[in-house]
Amino acid sequence: MPLDIVVGAQWGDEGKGRMVDLFAAKAKFVSRYSGGDNAGHTVTVGEQIFKLHLVPSGLARPNTIGVLGNGVVINPNILLKEINLLREGGVEVNPERLVISPSAHLITPAHRALDGAQEAMRGSEKIGTTKRGIGPAYMDKTARHGLRVEQMLDEEGFAEAVRKHVISANRLLRNVYRAEALDPQLIAAEYLQYARMLQPYIGDASGMISQALENGENVLAEGAQGTLLDLDHGTYPYVTSSNPTAPGALIGLGVGPKWVNEVIGVAKAFQTRVGEGGFPTELSGDLAVRLRGTGENPWDEFGTTTGRPRRVGWLDLVLLRYAMRINTFTHLAITKLDILTGMPSLKLCIGYQREGVIYEELPLGIYQMDQYRPVYQEMEGWDEDIRSAREWKDLPVQAREYIQTIEKKVGVKVGWISVGPERDQMVQALDAG
Ligand code: IMP
Repeated sequence: MPLDIVVGAQWGDEGKGRMVDLFAAKAKFVSRYSGGDNAGHTVTVGEQIFKLHLVPSGLARPNTIGVLGNGVVINPNILLKEINLLREGGVEVNPERLVISPSAHLITPAHRALDGAQEAMRGSEKIGTTKRGIGPAYMDKTARHGLRVEQMLDEEGFAEAVRKHVISANRLLRNVYRAEALDPQLIAAEYLQYARMLQPYIGDASGMISQALENGENVLAEGAQGTLLDLDHGTYPYVTSSNPTAPGALIGLGVGPKWVNEVIGVAKAFQTRVGEGGFPTELSGDLAVRLRGTGENPWDEFGTTTGRPRRVGWLDLVLLRYAMRINTFTHLAITKLDILTGMPSLKLCIGYQREGVIYEELPLGIYQMDQYRPVYQEMEGWDEDIRSAREWKDLPVQAREYIQTIEKKVGVKVGWISVGPERDQMVQALDAG
């Protein structure tokens, strides 16, 4: 059963790339199943660093085949730029190495314009989207008038469909949002060029992956965003417009549940969020700066896609347990444990309280989360530099207790702990006592 799924267990930006990298090493197919270029991952190949948003990051490894599944929304301009970026960096990308599902949907400049206009209209109730056109593209998909990748195979029909799509979006932009209209002809011509370049990459992604699974090959599903940003299971309406959770991988790739092997939930050792929405354990002041960093280091908490400073807080185990329920993680990976080094005391949110009653699970899932106060367990910190730890026994006892509390409260084993930004700065905790 060789489908491994790497899922963000929080609000995205958990450092999933590390686990993707590890699992991609044994995978034949590396795939994206939801979202679009709202995601951001940094991929290191030798000395080179690629900042990618859309192509599966495992594609940077030789001998893998990248797949963009039907659940993804694709901005072809970004996709072609990333293909070129990888090629310039010496990574071979051709139709043998990258397959795009015909059922994936396309993002256009009209979707981007609508995303910006909708956010502007929401005013103080804005979602804080990445303005990449994600929401409007999925809106068109569910309204059943989206632009699909398969349409690019019929050039004339496609150019006409793009033209009509922009004309229709212009009605909304002008009349509802009082925003500037776009040039339908120009965009249709631009998209026709993209279609010609991308046609060779279009293939039966679901069929290929299913066949690979039948043949016993390993397939990796790379989650983007995170569980709490899931359209159905996240902190609605402050969510993205797709299903980044593990079940989303099955829908978004077109494969059945019997193939699932590992579901690795990736969580930071603390909590971060970009964009608006509730965040019960959020910190401000010096502690927040301490966790966020100042932006000098590449690992500081500033958005890869938008550069926005991330909101930071204590690790919320109630929400992590909720993520466990939705995804049924087989293991957790905890990232950035090294960032907590030197903090005299740490807090873990182990429950929520309202009107004198303490809840280990919120009565209605995460609905009305903001109306409860977090209940914390205080933990002792550690001063030892843990960046060279590679085995469980190398970690100070306080760090081990921190991890063991997570395991106990969430009900799943922590398999990996990252202790620094480098590929090898990882504690393999699978055999931990
Ligand atoms: P959208 O996906 O651009 O519509 O944004 C919706 C919400 O999801 C906003 O709060 C974004 O900040 C957040 N979001 C989208 N993609 C990511 C990501 O890759 N990491 C973290 N947050 C994200």
